[in-house]
Amino acid sequence: MAKRDVRFVCQSCGYVSVRWKGRCPSCGEWNSLVEERVADTPTVPKTKVEVLPIDRWEEEDYRRKSTGFANLDSALGGGLVPGQVILIAGEPGIGKSTLLLQVSDRFTAHGRVLYVSGEESGSQIAMRGRRLGVSNPDVLIYPQTVLEEIQKTVEEVDPSLLVIDSVQTMYSEKLESSPGSVSQVREVTFRITEICKERGLPCFIVGQITKEGTIAGPKVLEHIVDTVIQFEGERYNFYRVVKVIKNRFGSVGEMAVFKMSDTGLEEVPEPSAFFVSERVNSPGSVIFPHTEGSKPVLLEVQALVLPALYTTPQRRTQGFDVNRLSLILAILEKEANIFTRDSDVFVNVAGGLSVKEPAVDLAVAMAIVSSKKEKPVPEDVVVFGELGLGGEVRAVHFGDLRIKEALKFGFRRALVPGKLNMEVEGIEILPVSNVKEAIEVLF
Ligand code: TYD
Ligand code: MG
Repeated sequence: MAKRDVRFVCQSCGYVSVRWKGRCPSCGEWNSLVEERVADTPTVPKTKVEVLPIDRWEEEDYRRKSTGFANLDSALGGGLVPGQVILIAGEPGIGKSTLLLQVSDRFTAHGRVLYVSGEESGSQIAMRGRRLGVSNPDVLIYPQTVLEEIQKTVEEVDPSLLVIDSVQTMYSEKLESSPGSVSQVREVTFRITEICKERGLPCFIVGQITKEGTIAGPKVLEHIVDTVIQFEGERYNFYRVVKVIKNRFGSVGEMAVFKMSDTGLEEVPEPSAFFVSERVNSPGSVIFPHTEGSKPVLLEVQALVLPALYTTPQRRTQGFDVNRLSLILAILEKEANIFTRDSDVFVNVAGGLSVKEPAVDLAVAMAIVSSKKEKPVPEDVVVFGELGLGGEVRAVHFGDLRIKEALKFGFRRALVPGKLNMEVEGIEILPVSNVKEAIEVLF
């Protein structure tokens, strides 16, 4: 093979180099460059396009079909659009195959479903099916990993839904690289997308995620597919959350909450009630109305502050960025004389959900102060707001949605950023402009 026929592709971010390098210059990953043949460059999917008046496009696009789960439908913007390709990412064992088998069962309302599995044998899936009560003969299980074979079978079966579990196990015979490499994963996704667009066939593609949180390699897949959803939760806890990260047919930040039982996943129609139901009003507990999309959900933020065990105090978090915690501790010290230098500090978002929006800052700060002072936050209060480095409480999005959700679940007061000027009947708004004032108002 001539030297110029090969190139080196970063398996983490897709960066291409003509020479091998120990560290990827693009994403900084070590030992991630792998030799691949230039011929392995994938083809761009060709989509059959038509010229239609604008009002017709809308009808065409929005003949949505239900997944059988109302909460998933609404997170996706109202069900599956014809030809929609959804990447479902999540760590191994979180429940992706379980959810998709249940969706497959319910989707038989629209016709046969082709479930292609490269991870498990047919009998393994049948066994899971028994547990889930899935025995519908219109769910066709197809243990296969060769893309070209899958394509043929899709043409024969003409399914109403296609499931690919998982993209890392599938490969095209046309490429030399191994399954799971960036080239293969990208080629498989491209070609599946092409097939689905041509046939108006909706499809779920499973992407295993690595510990670091990238969809194994395939940050490179996100731009090919229409929708990316992420399956989160703690493996040993029973909550599961599907978050919409990208969606060409709906808004991002939406989520659907499920409960894992011994007969599969069940919808949780009122996640707020679910998440706050286990709250005991002890010091260190604060209710935070979280939203990144249209649906808010009340979460319990917990903090534990206690004398440090070792000379270097510990800072540990679950569901919250540990660097952000250090920042909040520094702000509390500088602006409100709350000292935690000689304390271990633990912060936890109950329920296994991870919160990335900065609106949670004030709730985390108040939970810490509450634990430190050993004084509970009044039971009927919710807290939200972003903290600036000067201790100022900054405005956040969706203030009204958050407050309405709190009201709906019986909360009577809301500690909010000072700029949030609103009146809602039934709930008292407590605007604060900095963290010190927040502490005075609350304790
Ligand atoms: P699975 O769907 O195989 O995960 P993934 O496809 O994301 O790797 O889910 C596996 C886990 O779910 C496994 O630990 C067992 C648990 N589980 C239940 O608790 N109840 C059930 O009914 C099923 C089918 C699985
Ligand atoms: Mg699986």
